[in-house]
Amino acid sequence: MAKERIISSHAADEREELLNLSLRPQHMADYIGQSKLVEKLLITLQAVKERSEPMEHVLLHGPPGLGKTTLAHIIANEMGTHLTVTSGPALVRPTDLVGTLTKLQEGDVLFIDEIHRLSPIVEEYIYPAMEDFKIDVTVDSGMHARTITLPVKPFTLIGATTRAGLLSGPMRSRFGVSHSFEYYSREELLEILRRSASLLKMGGVSAGKSGDGLQIESLQSLEMIASRARGTPRVANRLLRRVRDFAQVRASGRMTPDVVDVSLRLEGVDDLGLDELDRKYLSIIGQVYNGGPVGLEAIAATLGEDSGTLEEVVEPYLLQVGFLARTRKGRQLTTAAAAHVGITLKPNEQNNDGLFEDE
Ligand code: ADE
Repeated sequence: MAKERIISSHAADEREELLNLSLRPQHMADYIGQSKLVEKLLITLQAVKERSEPMEHVLLHGPPGLGKTTLAHIIANEMGTHLTVTSGPALVRPTDLVGTLTKLQEGDVLFIDEIHRLSPIVEEYIYPAMEDFKIDVTVDSGMHARTITLPVKPFTLIGATTRAGLLSGPMRSRFGVSHSFEYYSREELLEILRRSASLLKMGGVSAGKSGDGLQIESLQSLEMIASRARGTPRVANRLLRRVRDFAQVRASGRMTPDVVDVSLRLEGVDDLGLDELDRKYLSIIGQVYNGGPVGLEAIAATLGEDSGTLEEVVEPYLLQVGFLARTRKGRQLTTAAAAHVGITLKPNEQNNDGLFEDE
C-alpha cells in the first residue's frame, strides 16, 4: 500500500526515474536550495579542477527525494567525467564490482545509493579500491586459484544514505567530505516547480526568478503544490505531473488554484500534504488510543500495516511537522495533529503528564 503513495519520497519505479531525469538540473548553477552544501561543494570543485585532481570521496546523507542522485550527476558533469550509478542492495558479491571498478577512467564518479545497505564483504572489498586504488581478483579455480591485484584509476566514490547512523565506522572514515541534505523551504520548492513547469511547457509558466510572464493564477497554483510537497522536490514534481494531467483532461489545460485543489484532493492529498495513510495513522492514535502514548506495534496491528513501513515512510514527515511526539511510553498525538483530523482529545492518566510535549 505504502509503495503507491503519491506523496512518497521514494522514486516509484524506473519510469519515474526517467521522468525525474528530464527535470534534473545538469549544472550547479541550476541547482536550487541546499545553499550551504552547494557553497562548500563549489569550493571543492574549483580547488580540485585547478589542481587537476579527482575529488575526494563524498558522503551525501539525508532524507529520500532531496536530490542526492541529482547532485552526483552534477558533480560528474562539472568535473567533465563519467558517472556510474549503482546501489548497496544491487551489489551482492565483490565480483559484482570488478567490472565497474576496472572500467572507470581517471576522475570518474561511482555513485552508490543506499550505501548503508552494502553487505560487509562488499564493503571490505571496496576499502582498498577507495584508499589505494587497487582491488584483488581471484583467477582460476580449485587448486589453481590465485589472487592477483589489479590497479583501479583514481576515481571519486559518492555514497548516498538516508540512514547515516547505520553506516559502519570504517566506511564513514574513508569519505573525505560529508554533506547533509535539509528539507526544502516552500520558496525553494516553488522555484523548483517554476523551473519544472517551464521545462514541461505548461502554459503561462516561465522559469524566471521574478514574475516575468508568469500568470498570477499559475503562480498561486504552484504555491499550493509547493505547500503540499513535504519539503521534497521529488514529491513536488510528482504532484505537478498529476495536476498537469488533471488540468489537461478536465480543465482545458488550465492550471488554476481550484484545479490544483480538486486534483490533489482526488489523489487524497490534503492542504498540508498528508495522504490517507497519514490521516488514518493519526486518527487511530486519536480515536482508538485517545491520543496515546501508544506503542508502534499496537498502531501497526490496528492499521494492518508493517511497523517498519510506518516508521520509515509515515512517521518522519509527521514528526517533522510537529504532529507526532515520540515519548518513552510510545507515540503521542500533538494538539495540532488532533485538530487536523478533527478529533478532540480527552485528558487521561496516561497522557496527562507531559501530553503534547516532545521528548
Ligand atoms: N529538481 C529536483 N531537485 C532540484 C533542485 N534542487 N534544483 C533544481 N531542480 C531540481
